[in-house]
Amino acid sequence: MQDLKPVDIVKALDRFIIGQHKAKRSVAIALRNRWRRRQVADDLRDEITPKNVILIGPTGVGKTEIARRISTLADSPFYKVEASKFTEVGYVGRDVESMVRDLLELTITQLKIREQESVQLKAMQLAEERMLDILLPKPSAPRGFGLPTAPTEAPAENSDNATREKLRRMLRDGKLDDRVVDVDVAERSAPMVEIFSNAGMEEMGINFKDMLGGLLPKSTKKRKMKVIEAMEVLAQEEAQSLVDMDKVVKKAIEKVEQAGIIFLDEIDKIVGSDGRQGPDVSREGVQRDLLPIVEGSTVNTKYGPVKTDHILFIGAGAFHAIKPADMIPELQGRFPIRVELESLGRAEFVRILKEPQNALLLQYQAMLATEGIELVFADEAVETIAAIAEEVNTRTENIGARRLHTMMECLLEDILFDAPDLPADKMMIDRAYVETRLAAIKDDEDLSRYIL
Ligand SMILES: Nc1ncnc2c1ncn2[C@@H]1O[C@H](COP(=O)(O)OP(=O)(O)OP(=O)(O)O)[C@@H](O)[C@H]1O
Ligand SMILES: [Mg+2]
Repeated sequence: MQDLKPVDIVKALDRFIIGQHKAKRSVAIALRNRWRRRQVADDLRDEITPKNVILIGPTGVGKTEIARRISTLADSPFYKVEASKFTEVGYVGRDVESMVRDLLELTITQLKIREQESVQLKAMQLAEERMLDILLPKPSAPRGFGLPTAPTEAPAENSDNATREKLRRMLRDGKLDDRVVDVDVAERSAPMVEIFSNAGMEEMGINFKDMLGGLLPKSTKKRKMKVIEAMEVLAQEEAQSLVDMDKVVKKAIEKVEQAGIIFLDEIDKIVGSDGRQGPDVSREGVQRDLLPIVEGSTVNTKYGPVKTDHILFIGAGAFHAIKPADMIPELQGRFPIRVELESLGRAEFVRILKEPQNALLLQYQAMLATEGIELVFADEAVETIAAIAEEVNTRTENIGARRLHTMMECLLEDILFDAPDLPADKMMIDRAYVETRLAAIKDDEDLSRYIL
């Protein structure tokens, strides 16, 4: 998936995001550049600095959405962090490197789940065998000890096998689901370990819980449960032990290093003069801390070192009063791709409501379909919604496409409430409906501030 061409990336993004063509192009280029840089011969590669992107634009126009979609597209580990949080008091001492650790942690969890899913079938088989052992315990001592066994043993074993197979069929048919059995379940490590908090330890890449957890003996506990639940628990346990965690960790580190994307939201909040006196960490200081990570360095984690050379950083911010040029020069150089997103108006809103694969109208239609109601929107209705959204955005606060979310909720409130008891199986939303529901609120400035 890493060799997606820029044009394909843009096309794929078009399925979810309306307009913002320039931003899509820039992000596509940045992704491709990373891939190109990895292909270049070693000696030259080190000369090529990372080409990261800054998305500039007002709120609710698709910045986060573009970054998130691109990560799914490229199957890249993705982590979003508000850059401003590193300037907060509570974060003194919490280093900027933690974003790389968090990204790795996330990736490990994801890969682990994926691995567990891929061994699901095998795990189910093993769980079935374990369940049959519980239902039909193997005789522990040879039966008929002291007696001449030869003639009787074979048939006994055969009949045991036959019973086991019979039970297996019953189990598969769900006939034993409600029977209660005793199951040995692995216990989590002893609760005393929880006393140790990890605060302050993460910088060193140490996790006490894991350390001690490994030392403590694995204990099991007998629990009574229904066969149907027990099968799930057993399958889960088997899946966990089938997954080779060392391999998962190795794969995750590789994935983070080669394909990771870190989304630095509100990057403009760490730019600008430190005029305000206060306990906040200096913004320039945060920029300096950020520099080595963005340039490419090695971050120590409890799973081992992670190189950040090829991680793609996507910065985003409104940049109202400040410009990217106000960043410290070194950091400016690491974010050479800048692109502005357009603010959205009526025409875009119509398309956002209707066109994306996950369009808002489709979402409401799908939700109401679960109640047996077909929701139909007249074109004029959609246009009216878009027009009102634009108007409210200009008159109160411009929150971009987010306005559509609150408006739709307000528009459909009655239907959403009454849906289970509505006699009709088809609801038509026409222009008149939109106007009666929204127009009054829209014209009352105070009301629209709170509701729309
Ligand atoms: N161009 C667009 N096409 C389709 N949907 C959009 C578009 N812009 C925004 N949206 C929708 O609006 C919502 C907010 O968008 P998003 O989270 O990307 O905003 P943002 O630009 O990151 O804003 P902020 O600066 O506040 O973080 C999302 O649900 C997104 O799907
Ligand atoms: Mg955002």
